[in-house]
Amino acid sequence: MTEILNISDNKYYESIKRAAEIIKNGGTVVFPTETVYGLGANAYSEDACKKIFEAKKRPADNPLIVTVSNFEMVNNVCYIDKDIEEKMKKIWPSPLTLLLKKKDVIPDIVTSGMDTVCVRFPDNKIALDLIEAAGVPVAAPSANIATRPSIVDSKDAIKELDGRVDAIIDAGRVKFGVESTILDVTKKPYSLLRPGAYSVEDIEAVFGQIYISPVAEGYKESSIALTPGMKYRHYAPSKKLFLIENEEEFREFISSDRSREFLVLCSADNAKYAKFDKIVLGKNAVEAAHNLFYDFRILDQSDKKYGVIQAFPEKGIGFGLMNRIRKASFLIIKDKENIDKINEV
Ligand code: TXA
Ligand code: MG
Repeated sequence: MTEILNISDNKYYESIKRAAEIIKNGGTVVFPTETVYGLGANAYSEDACKKIFEAKKRPADNPLIVTVSNFEMVNNVCYIDKDIEEKMKKIWPSPLTLLLKKKDVIPDIVTSGMDTVCVRFPDNKIALDLIEAAGVPVAAPSANIATRPSIVDSKDAIKELDGRVDAIIDAGRVKFGVESTILDVTKKPYSLLRPGAYSVEDIEAVFGQIYISPVAEGYKESSIALTPGMKYRHYAPSKKLFLIENEEEFREFISSDRSREFLVLCSADNAKYAKFDKIVLGKNAVEAAHNLFYDFRILDQSDKKYGVIQAFPEKGIGFGLMNRIRKASFLIIKDKENIDKINEV
């Protein structure tokens, strides 16, 4: 049975204590972070981490992020040099995950046998209180079942994971809506493994110029996987999603009769062009990121056969947002010449 833990004011500490107890006893807890919900277990326990892979149906070769609540824990799980230590203190807690050399206390199951570990120090009170109370680092991938969109609302966590985990912290919507940014600091130049909620601009202000592979944009044609997770289908709704990157073309399509079978996912500015059903993602990339995965689930529940989505400017969180949209898309229409491909499906 899954315990649903309420965190309203008078229940908060009781629920955190209960969730921490479950982690200490080798169980699994779904908890919010500032990015998306995580599915956590004691990172020191192979048996506990095995339960994460089972609950999520995650392939064993896709490693887990280790989530910590203080710098002592960081030191326990990975090797850090002075320079990186100073930088960590500037950036954490935040949605920037760092790839570092792992220490032996982290079992192989967590890192899929690699000698590196992704360390995340989240900027979310519930997550930090939970880890602090558990007293151990918590291995926690995104809480969604593998290949499904990440979970950004506890209602969706309960729908998807009730019966598969020991407890779910019922904390409503998360702040950012896309996952943390991952930066490899094991070798220079430091390189971006996954764009996300923490912007490249903010990383470079602390770490200097970093290497950004074209793969980070999220186009599928690229055969290189920067993280083991990248080779898997990701973030996608079950319905086929079409991305029209050219704005003029997008507006033309959503105002045409051809868009009847599509649920339109667009900005507030473009909503007026939609002839049939639409969901407004928001007025900018920050709002669109907040709503993207939530609205993918609405698309799946709608009576429309397909979804069609627009592009957003790739500054700040917009870079991570576009990476998720491209990865979720069945077809990407980059330029005018290709618009007819939408009729071929
Ligand atoms: O915002 C987030 O990061 C969320 C919340 C819950 O903290 N977590 C999250 O975890 O997105 P997950 O497992 O869905 O994505 C982690 C990514 C995967 O693509 C995985 O392959 C990669 O990080 N990863 C984990 N450990 C790695 C390692 N040692 N080397 C390279 N990539 C690694
Ligand atoms: Mg994930």
